Amino acid sequence: MLPQSTTMAECPRVEAEELAAVVTECSSRPGAPLAEMTVVDEGVQLRRAGLEDVPAIVQLLAADQLGAARDGATGEDGLGPYLRAFGDIEADPAQLLVVAIGGAAEVVGTLQLSFIPGLARRGALRAQVEAVRVRHDYRNRGLGSQMLSWAIGEARRRGCALVQLTADKARVDAHRFYQSLGFVVSHEGMKLQL
Ligand SMILES: CC(C)(COP(=O)(O)OP(=O)(O)OC[C@H]1O[C@@H](n2cnc3c(N)ncnc32)[C@H](O)[C@@H]1OP(=O)(O)O)[C@@H](O)C(=O)NCCC(=O)NCCS
Repeated sequence: MLPQSTTMAECPRVEAEELAAVVTECSSRPGAPLAEMTVVDEGVQLRRAGLEDVPAIVQLLAADQLGAARDGATGEDGLGPYLRAFGDIEADPAQLLVVAIGGAAEVVGTLQLSFIPGLARRGALRAQVEAVRVRHDYRNRGLGSQMLSWAIGEARRRGCALVQLTADKARVDAHRFYQSLGFVVSHEGMKLQL
């Protein structure tokens, strides 16, 4: 039972037009153009991923110590599950899948940003970073840091109050990488496989 002081009846009423205006303002955020990425690594550009990038992104996901066991376009379905997931990402304005394109016009990095609205923290919009990968031969040249700095800038530009991510406990180097960018190990991440 809620204490009397927090019943719905005592909450201030939000008029329908006021609510509609707020919703329009919020849903227009994700459609905006991307923030600029300043690139130190000459010739690398960041852009929104297209369908044609999916095979290369899958390769990056699979060419990884942990991804090798769970990703790859092998088997009966081939790229099918990835193409379906790409369709879902494309259809959702709160999802932003980006690729870093190297000098030879090939995908050398990727990350996904998701914008999650919520009531907590006074209705804070938060950005979730997922699936960060830099191709092996492009690592340790600052590209990963550049991509994350861009993601933080893009989240700020869209009005997010915080950026969050989880990293597998086995990825000790990646933990150092994120902490060097200002991320703080403030929570225990938990997952339940379904
Ligand atoms: C983590 C990763 C995106 C960093 O990209 P990057 O372009 O090499 O990053 P930068 O050059 O800006 O920064 C280098 C830092 O990355 C980290 N790093 C380097 N190699 C790494 C590796 N194989 N795996 C994880 N982190 C690594 C280190 O902290 C390094 O800093 P150090 O010089 O103090 O050791 C990249 O190494 C990668 O794709 N790793 C494999 C996948 C992964 O761990 N992704 C994160 C999932 S949560």
